[in-house]
Amino acid sequence: MQRTAKTALVTGASAGLGTHFARLFAQDGHDLVLVARRQDKLDQLATELREVYGIHPTVIAADLTDPKAPLHLHEEVMRAGIEVEFLVNNAGFGTSGAFAELNLARELDLIELNVKALTQLTGLVLPAMVARRSGRILNLGSMAGFLPGPFMATYYASKAYVLSFTEALAYELRGTGVTATVLCPGATATEFARVAGIESTALFTSSADAASIALYGYRSMLKGKTIAVPGVKAKLSLESLRVSPRAVVRVLAAHLNKP
Ligand SMILES: NC(=O)c1ccc[n+]([C@@H]2O[C@H](COP(=O)([O-])OP(=O)(O)OC[C@H]3O[C@@H](n4cnc5c(N)ncnc54)[C@H](OP(=O)(O)O)[C@@H]3O)[C@@H](O)[C@H]2O)c1
Repeated sequence: MQRTAKTALVTGASAGLGTHFARLFAQDGHDLVLVARRQDKLDQLATELREVYGIHPTVIAADLTDPKAPLHLHEEVMRAGIEVEFLVNNAGFGTSGAFAELNLARELDLIELNVKALTQLTGLVLPAMVARRSGRILNLGSMAGFLPGPFMATYYASKAYVLSFTEALAYELRGTGVTATVLCPGATATEFARVAGIESTALFTSSADAASIALYGYRSMLKGKTIAVPGVKAKLSLESLRVSPRAVVRVLAAHLNKP
C-alpha cells in the first residue's frame, strides 16, 4: 500500500539517543522508519511506539558500515512510498587508543558510518526535500567536532566532518524551506562509552541524560537552528576552546580521552 504520511527516518534507533529521538517524533504524531543492526531492539521499540502513540513504524535492520547499505535503505523506503520529511543521521560509534595500535578496519568502518553513510543518506533524501520545499535534517555531531582528539583521533575527526558538512549545508539550504542542524553533545549516558571502551576515562566521569539531550536536539531541529550545543557547561567549554591555543587544546583532549 502506498503511504503519504510525513515520516522521520532515524538511524541508530535501537539504543541511546536514537531511541529517544524516535519517541519524540512519535509523541508529535509522526510516522517513523527505524534503522540499526539489532532488529530485536527495533521491533521492541516499534511495539512500544505502536502501543503508546498508535503509530506504525517501519523497521529496517541494516549495517550502515556496508557501503551498499545506504542506497539499499533508500530504495526500500522509496518502494514503500514513504516520503522522508525528517532525516536523523544519528547512528555512530567511537573507538579509543593510539591510532597506530588500533584495528584499521574498524577505524575505516567508523568513517563509513559516521561520515559516509551520513553524507550518502543526506544526498539521497535532500533533492526531494528541496523539490517540495520542506524537510529537516538532524546530524549527530559532538563536542568532539570542535577539537582534535588524541586517543580518539578518527572519532573526533569524523565529528569535525559532520560539523563542517552540516554547517555548510545549512548555509546552502537558506531559503529552500529545508534546514540542516548539527547536534553537538558532550558525554551522554548511552551505550556509546561502553562501545568505545572509554567508560573509565576522565571524559565520562559525569554524563548528561540522553532524553534531555535528544529533546534539545529535536527542538533545535524544528527551529532550524544550525549548530545545537546542549547545556551551559558545554557552551562554556566551547567558548574557552575558542580562546585557548590549539596546543593546549590537544593536551586537554588527550588527558580527557586517555584510558
Ligand atoms: N553518548 C555520547 O556521549 C555522545 C556524545 C556526542 C555525540 N554522540 C553521538 O550520538 C550518536 C548516537 O550515539 P549514542 O550515544 O546514542 O550511542 P549508542 O547508545 O551506542 O547508540 C548508537 C546507535 O547506532 C547504531 N549503530 C551502531 N553501529 C551501526 C551500524 N554499523 N549500522 C547501523 N547502525 C549502527 C546502534 O545500533 P546497533 O548496535 O543495533 O546497530 C545504536 O542504535 C552517535 O553518532 C554518537 O557519535 C554521542
